[in-house]
Amino acid sequence: MNKSLFRRKNVDDLLNANNDVQLSKTLGPFALILLGVGAIIGTGIFILPGTVAAEHSGPAIIFSFVIAAIVCALAGMCYSEFASAVPVTGSAYTYSYIVFGEVIAWLVGWALLLEYGLAAAAVATGWSAYLSSLLAGFNIHIPLAFSGPFNPAENTYINLPAIFIVVLTSFLLTLGSKESTRFNTIMVFIKVVVILLFIIVGIFYVEPDNWQPFMPFGMSGVLSGAALVFFAYLGFDAVSSAAEEVKNPQRNMPIGIIGSLFICTVLYVAVSLVLTGLVSYTNLNVSDPVSYAIQLAGQEWIAGIISLGAIVGMMTVILVMCYGGTRLLFALGRDGLLPKVMREIHPKYKTPVKNTWIFAALISLCAGLLPIDKLTELVNMGTLIAFTMVSIGILWLRKNKEISEGGFKVPLFPFIPIVSFVLCIFLILQLSVQTWIACGIWFVIGLLLYFGYGKKHSLMNK
Ligand code: ALA
Repeated sequence: MNKSLFRRKNVDDLLNANNDVQLSKTLGPFALILLGVGAIIGTGIFILPGTVAAEHSGPAIIFSFVIAAIVCALAGMCYSEFASAVPVTGSAYTYSYIVFGEVIAWLVGWALLLEYGLAAAAVATGWSAYLSSLLAGFNIHIPLAFSGPFNPAENTYINLPAIFIVVLTSFLLTLGSKESTRFNTIMVFIKVVVILLFIIVGIFYVEPDNWQPFMPFGMSGVLSGAALVFFAYLGFDAVSSAAEEVKNPQRNMPIGIIGSLFICTVLYVAVSLVLTGLVSYTNLNVSDPVSYAIQLAGQEWIAGIISLGAIVGMMTVILVMCYGGTRLLFALGRDGLLPKVMREIHPKYKTPVKNTWIFAALISLCAGLLPIDKLTELVNMGTLIAFTMVSIGILWLRKNKEISEGGFKVPLFPFIPIVSFVLCIFLILQLSVQTWIACGIWFVIGLLLYFGYGKKHSLMNK
């Protein structure tokens, strides 16, 4: 096997490379948790529980959420160890460059692009569904043909609101990220308030009969449901990208990652319990289940507020995912694995404007034409691949003598990294054959790009 395929980055070089461009270290544990919750809560709670409860888990969807949370918490610990050992940006891509070498790092980066890009597209289609239902409340109807994925049988051709929100978010991103923290804080606050409102009001209308049968599709339904609601937790890995801007990353990264996952798990379990208690799971196959359920309880006003909150809240997820994607493209460009245009910074706005618009064009295409369930499955696949590499990568990281002692360490080593690896593989196996094929095609394109371009232009050649 060609040795240059597995050439690795050096930890000291990476850490020292940041000496000339020091980002200010301003983020503490609370800011990190806010960043995490901002990136995590979105479509996964406002939309997915409807279809997943109706078609996979029934009221036992709470178990699906708990199982997915456990997998994420284990992977989250592995991310925390990497982020505290190597507090540089690039997340799983950079980590893989250190422990596995270039070609694997490229493939992980390629998988992450799938995650960030399609997650933004999926959330944009969810945003569109909530917008349509909110506008319908005011008797404004977006023509069917322009508000759904390409599906002539159902008379839908393109999802224009989804494209609109991707373009708007990308525009905001090109302007610079100075105000983004304050913007994020406000949005997170709105999101959490809306979710609490749903739980507190909804609880009074719960009919325990709706929880029977509790597990209509058996354990296999709960597990395939877990592979789908896994999507709801994505975004916590974006916290690790902020590593360079965190005060005392050794201590604060784990708090940020595990803390935001914990808060989201509690909220998700509570929402799904109330949701399936309000409406029989058989009737939940709608595009805006949370506001639909509360509407059925006769709370029209609250339903409107929830829709509005969901619309605002989902925007932060799109923002963070687009941000992650463009910064990853930047990192790949900087390392020479993608063309130079990806690492160009706009002289005035100091953001990678060109790569942002290239990324936005691709996301818009997916958001405009593909249905949300196909998008989320592909996102899960991309993310699970990154998680498996980060989990098993801990075994190699521990052997690396360059890493300083004293950072966060995954407990029960090597048990937890191995269990995390096995669970991620297990969830990957729950995804549909179609998703496997689509993902296979994505990786073949990735390999062609690497051998056609990246390998020759990599900075590591120098
Ligand atoms: N976790 C994010 C969401 O649920 C991707 O929208």
